Amino acid sequence: DYLRDDDVTQEARDLISSLPKEKGWLVSEMYQFQGRWHTQALLQGILNCQKQFEAKDSDIILVTNPKSGTTWLKALVFALLNRHKFSVSSSGDHPLLVTNPHLLVPFLEGVYYESPDFDFSELPSPRLMNTHISHFSLPESVKSSSCKIVYCCRNPKDMFVSLWHFGKKLAPEETADYPIEKAVEAFCEGKFIGGPFWDHVLEYWNASRENPKKVLFVTYEDLKKQTGVEIKRIAEFLECGFIEEEEVRGIVKLCSFESLSNLDVNKEGKLPNGMETKTFFRKGEIGGWKDTLSESLAEQIDRTMEDKFQGSGLKF
Ligand code: A3P
Repeated sequence: DYLRDDDVTQEARDLISSLPKEKGWLVSEMYQFQGRWHTQALLQGILNCQKQFEAKDSDIILVTNPKSGTTWLKALVFALLNRHKFSVSSSGDHPLLVTNPHLLVPFLEGVYYESPDFDFSELPSPRLMNTHISHFSLPESVKSSSCKIVYCCRNPKDMFVSLWHFGKKLAPEETADYPIEKAVEAFCEGKFIGGPFWDHVLEYWNASRENPKKVLFVTYEDLKKQTGVEIKRIAEFLECGFIEEEEVRGIVKLCSFESLSNLDVNKEGKLPNGMETKTFFRKGEIGGWKDTLSESLAEQIDRTMEDKFQGSGLKF
């Protein structure tokens, strides 16, 4: 589990001892590395990844902030890339019906933490992987190769609320008495595990504008409002050939919240690290923050967003 701090190498320990440290919302200790806050475990994973990962031109890397639609994006792109191998229209035998999306698409820094010797060259081509690593901290070969990045961003109020509820399930002891006002403050300041949200989004937003062939920027909201249109946009960006309307409809249906969240594997399954698969499916809505955030807390996030995204052209 990435919130625990065991199993880090001496080299990582030496680095960690020199980093700014804070007690954060969700975790008892977090460390600031290259502008972002991490647990020791994820930091170890990022360091291994930076050192060892060799990108290939054909690679596809899905990038998100946690709770921004990672699980959904993994399912959509997996189904899209494998549509000739696994038909999305014939019911019954698609891997997504029996396997949680996180097990079909490896999480780079997670794998590099849990299995540092994992051989990524064994993955079938094109290799599909995901990460939460910031654009700045990506392994050099990801930036210098022609591999493609699909970045999915979500409205910060919904992302915050999703993380708030996720945290309660994942780290009940750490979060039980943590006031939501303090969590919103930490979120706005960027001082939480995986934060800051703002810089992460802006870095990929700018990269997508500078190099639209390399980075595609999609939002959870667009995926929700027009899933089919976005699937075709992703398909075109990934240059993965003509896609039939029927295939698009099949992917939309197979990967929908209703479909995935009702499968046994996503209701009762566990990932190898012990996380219950059901924690990745909660409501799957746009604007669900209204149930959790007071007007003044929502305004606080909105004001921060306006300030941070000012002049970028990015809006929610
Ligand atoms: P909520 O907590 O708002 O419901 P991540 O996959 O990055 O961890 O993000 C989890 C969020 O995506 C959760 O949001 C979850 O319910 C939502 N989600 C998971 N699968 C989804 C799907 N197939 N369609 C839409 N939303 C989905």
